[in-house]
Amino acid sequence: MTVNVEIDGEIAIVTIENPPVNAVSGAVRERLLALAVAFDDDPNVRAVVLTGAGKLFVAGADIAEFDRPPEPPFLPDVIARIEASAKPWIAAIRGAALGGGLELALGCRFRVATASARFALPEINLGIIPGAGGTQRLPRVVGVTEAIRIVAENHSPDGVEALRLGLVYTLVDEPLVPAAVAFARSVVGQALPPSSIQRAASMPPPDVWAEAEARVTAGARGAAAPPQALQALKHGIEHGAEAGLALERSTFLALRATEEAAALRHLFFAERAALRPADMRALNPLPIETVGVVGGGTMGSGIAAALLNAGLSVVLIEQDEAAVLRARSTLASLFESSRRRGLISDDDAAGWMARLETAIGYGAAGRCDMVIEAVFEDLAVKRSVFAELGRVCRPDTILATNTSYIDPRLIADGLPGQERFLGLHFFSPAQVMKLLEIVPTPETAPDVLATGYDLACRLGKIPVRSGICDGFIGNRILRRYRAEAETLVRGGVGIAAVDAAMRAFGFAMGPFEMQDMAGLDIAFLYREAARSRGEPLPDMPGDLLVRAGRKGQKTGGGWYDYAAGDRRPRPSADAERVIAPLVGAKTEMAGEAIVSRLMASMAEEGHAILAEGIALGAADIDLVEVHGYGFPRKCGGPMFQAGRTGKT
Ligand code: CAA
Ligand code: NAI
Repeated sequence: MTVNVEIDGEIAIVTIENPPVNAVSGAVRERLLALAVAFDDDPNVRAVVLTGAGKLFVAGADIAEFDRPPEPPFLPDVIARIEASAKPWIAAIRGAALGGGLELALGCRFRVATASARFALPEINLGIIPGAGGTQRLPRVVGVTEAIRIVAENHSPDGVEALRLGLVYTLVDEPLVPAAVAFARSVVGQALPPSSIQRAASMPPPDVWAEAEARVTAGARGAAAPPQALQALKHGIEHGAEAGLALERSTFLALRATEEAAALRHLFFAERAALRPADMRALNPLPIETVGVVGGGTMGSGIAAALLNAGLSVVLIEQDEAAVLRARSTLASLFESSRRRGLISDDDAAGWMARLETAIGYGAAGRCDMVIEAVFEDLAVKRSVFAELGRVCRPDTILATNTSYIDPRLIADGLPGQERFLGLHFFSPAQVMKLLEIVPTPETAPDVLATGYDLACRLGKIPVRSGICDGFIGNRILRRYRAEAETLVRGGVGIAAVDAAMRAFGFAMGPFEMQDMAGLDIAFLYREAARSRGEPLPDMPGDLLVRAGRKGQKTGGGWYDYAAGDRRPRPSADAERVIAPLVGAKTEMAGEAIVSRLMASMAEEGHAILAEGIALGAADIDLVEVHGYGFPRKCGGPMFQAGRTGKT
């Protein structure tokens, strides 16, 4: 049963029980509508308590239904019917009341909640706006300023704040339902208070709209939904609830049908599936409290920060005193900058430094439950590190490498207990980037793999399993993407034209700007190594640039020129001269054609990766691109794009 009814004297208790998150599916809507009609006709029922089974109220509409046309009864009609009921409906809320769940609660005359309840209208994250009155009822209940934050800026009050805002009538303790029933009894026989939609909307001061529009548009970074959510809210305040509801619904339906919304739904489900792959669900991760990090450079410091942020204790091992001091100072400045930006308190920062131990030599690794190696990308150096770890660590300590390219099997060769070894490939900056590629070897034990997933969840990261190949999933596609971009330039397309096209598509930077920022020399050295092994790699424009000393921003120029202290790329006659021997006659190419070429090459590499079994599914490849490489979220990922356009 998706909606259960229990009668307690004159109170009807309606419980939405639609696991896992009590989504308001078609069946739930149908039953709620029928109940609203039936209770009005039933003289024995004098009030209705509406609640959700389990740990939450209702997580919103059933997102899986959004790929089909809407089916009646529509949620706005169900809510309007509940709101029009002659008897008081009381929403009893614990846990999340999200999206359509909050809208349903707003249709009730009263809301009671536990202090830890959470209220949000997260529709904008799915490329849509609330579609069942949220933009209209909420400002009439909590006021325009607070409603803007919740509707268009992802603000999510808890029960205590909701009480202060007037969103809930009173806070109640667990057990929730008896408390809500007692409340219902207390209002039986009283005149109904005005419904949310009937309440007078107060006009905000004139500058509120202009400020909110500027803020919301800037925060949306090109996403369609947040400014439109704000417009619907504003329209209802200026022209009345009926006009507001009409605009809200038409905007909701139009946005629901966009490619952007489909892409965001695809990622919503992919992200959730990534956290708990089917073959990991029955496994118990091993307990991890203290993690060793070997190497405190760019990656090691970032990984340590991510671990400390998650409440773990860290032992950071470096080669010498100078390197230890450098790592400590990197971490101190990371925490200081989080503290300055108000992301953490002074106590948090102090707590982190207290949980951080630094060491020279490997003795302290003996106390670690897991050790992550992040030393130079050099097989011999990495092997010597694991030889030491194999000697000092407990036999059950999990050992992981953060290598970008080296075959983890070669790194683990000779290590005692290879079943506890795996690759954990973080992305830079590791305390920020959400992606964690998990790379098991054939020997990795299932519970060790499960521990990798568990660690990713604890760090707030998205785990994606990758098989072993050169560059794993992400760097392999990146290499192909860059190579295709260089092919375009060799064909006469302008460097700046390629970058501009990819920026217009939604990347923060184009491929050449990105290389200038990261440095061209790493990929160059990689190609040189392949050449020295006898691989027939022809010279590429990037090789000519590095040989001419143009390694990117750090040398004042790469694909572009840079003025001292200024990261803005400027077209470079010198770079053009250097690469001229490999470049054909200048040609114009439309931005869309550039995007489509680069997308096709990424997807083609993705299909090869799938065919080789390196990625478990196409959605995993999209997650890698979105969470590791800045692929625009609203475009869903290269495999999603290929699926929509039918191109590879
Ligand atoms: N519809 C369909 N399925 C949903 C769902 C929804 N609204 N919300 C969550 N799920 C599914 C997840 O895909 C996941 O499925 P699997 O177990 O098969 O992977 C399962 O429910 C559990 O979800 P989580 O793993 O996210 O569980 P959690 O306990 O970590 O978090 C939650 C629970 C906070 C509710 C979180 O799932 C969430 O934020 N959900 C989305 C809420 C949302 O965006 N609601 C707005 C919907 S749009 C709307 O309501 C429009 C409207 O105006 C009518
Ligand atoms: P880095 O050069 O910034 O840091 C390496 C650190 O390891 C140095 O501080 C060095 O002192 C230390 N070190 C070297 N040998 C050591 C030893 N035997 N014991 C203890 N410490 C030792 O390098 P970076 O960029 O942090 O890379 C580290 C690893 O992470 C490499 O394998 C790299 O391929 C990988 N990686 C790098 C990414 C990046 O964007 N920089 C992204 C993802 C992975």
